[in-house]
Amino acid sequence: MAQDDKIIEQIVDRYDADVGMLIPMMQDLQAECGYLPLEQLHSLAKQLSLPLSRLYAVATFYASFHLAPKGAHEVTLCVGTVCYLKGAPKISEAISREFHVETGGTTRDRLFTFQAVNCVGACAVAPVMIVDGKYYNGVTPASALEVLYGLGKNETSVEKDGET
Ligand code: FES
Repeated sequence: MAQDDKIIEQIVDRYDADVGMLIPMMQDLQAECGYLPLEQLHSLAKQLSLPLSRLYAVATFYASFHLAPKGAHEVTLCVGTVCYLKGAPKISEAISREFHVETGGTTRDRLFTFQAVNCVGACAVAPVMIVDGKYYNGVTPASALEVLYGLGKNETSVEKDGET
């Protein structure tokens, strides 16, 4: 799309097409789009005369880059050893089943992105789930779902203007 090409052109111009500034360019692209759409990466690679694989390698190496749209909320479930032994797998299963989302994925309505991490340093109150930075201790499948259903209640819809 012309609009998309313009975004890439502006970003490339901002850094004088300096390939050494690839990461800041990708950060700017992500700031514009919310993630790194493949078409845009393709366009950026073309303008910098770089192979797409190089941009893809950067995008997958740094955890701060996202190749898929993120949800409005960030849900993190600890699956470290203690949380695991205290029931994290059942919580994860319940979330995946109820919201049709796998770990690392985003719900179709983009309500939240669900990720699993190892030990968040709160083993004494395991299992732990973190929603937008807020810790929920000693969660169960039921209490985790209750928290997540609460997210949806505050937002009638997070799909905006039919964005794709
Ligand atoms: S294993 Fe979950 S907080 Fe340590």
